[in-house]
Amino acid sequence: MSISTVGVLGCGLMGAGVAQVAAASGFQTIVLEANAEALERGMARIAKFLNDGVAKGKLSAESRDATLARLTGTTRHADLATCDLVIEAIVEDRAAKARAYAEVEAVVAPSCLLASNTSSLCITELAASTRRPDRFGGLHFFNPVPLMKLVEVIRALPTSTETYDALFAFAKALGKEPVTAPDRSGFIVNRLLIPYLLDAIRCYEGGLGSLEDIDAAMKLGCGHPMGPFTLADFIGLDTTLSIANIMFDEYREARFAPSPLLKQMVLAGYLGRKSGRGFYTY
Ligand code: CAA
Repeated sequence: MSISTVGVLGCGLMGAGVAQVAAASGFQTIVLEANAEALERGMARIAKFLNDGVAKGKLSAESRDATLARLTGTTRHADLATCDLVIEAIVEDRAAKARAYAEVEAVVAPSCLLASNTSSLCITELAASTRRPDRFGGLHFFNPVPLMKLVEVIRALPTSTETYDALFAFAKALGKEPVTAPDRSGFIVNRLLIPYLLDAIRCYEGGLGSLEDIDAAMKLGCGHPMGPFTLADFIGLDTTLSIANIMFDEYREARFAPSPLLKQMVLAGYLGRKSGRGFYTY
């Protein structure tokens, strides 16, 4: 299976990052958004990252321009017709994803592979909602996508070996370090990370320490790049809550249960960095 043209559904935080690294790695890349405003925001995010990279001396102006030249934004599904692989990075909603796959399948060739960047939904269930479950798998990227080296590659029950190998090779071609992750809610990283974040919140509620002290302890004592509250704000408290709820539904274990504080912060609109207020104020 040779991949030269890549489609990305969604140009939000994750979709924009995936589209950027695909284009930077030499793939013709077409990123689709629902409307012109969202597309403009996503393309501006990519341009800013690349421009910052040039300003920091991390990349040449020529590489930036070549990346942008390989990247096309669109709001029309028909423009995805030539894609060999389409990666979906839209809202974590099974029905919305199924609708998006049907729209893609109406225009792409039968050989086109489909992958989801979902962080917690069941890849087998998503695969089963398409007409090509054998050509479907999971490619889970990490934020910020251009900087984080990991991609979890997930094999759904019906994923063919050929598809799985092609997705794994694709992740490597992006310069990432892929790992094989099981189709279990949370895969590997969130299975371990989300209970850690939830536990940090419970510890804080129980008076273990201040936000700053717990963050400093984990950052300086364990060499983590961010303490748990800085990281939860970075991921988004709504996203953290939603992943926790999906994992709790799946495993029914207390360690995946979100605490009242997390639920209330989300209800109050304290979503972390993106809303200007989470555990910290930005
Ligand atoms: N272009 C190119 N390189 C850039 C860049 C740009 N625009 N911006 C930054 N960089 C480079 C920097 O130059 C620097 O490189 P060196 O290490 O060679 O110096 C590196 O990227 C780090 O950048 P900064 O120094 O600006 O920032 P930092 O050191 O504070 O690191 C961070 C930022 C990478 C986000 C770091 O804090 C980190 O790793 N945090 C943890 C992030 C994390 O855990 N993400 C996963 C969340 S979970 C998830 O995504 C999945 C899910 O399902 C919830």
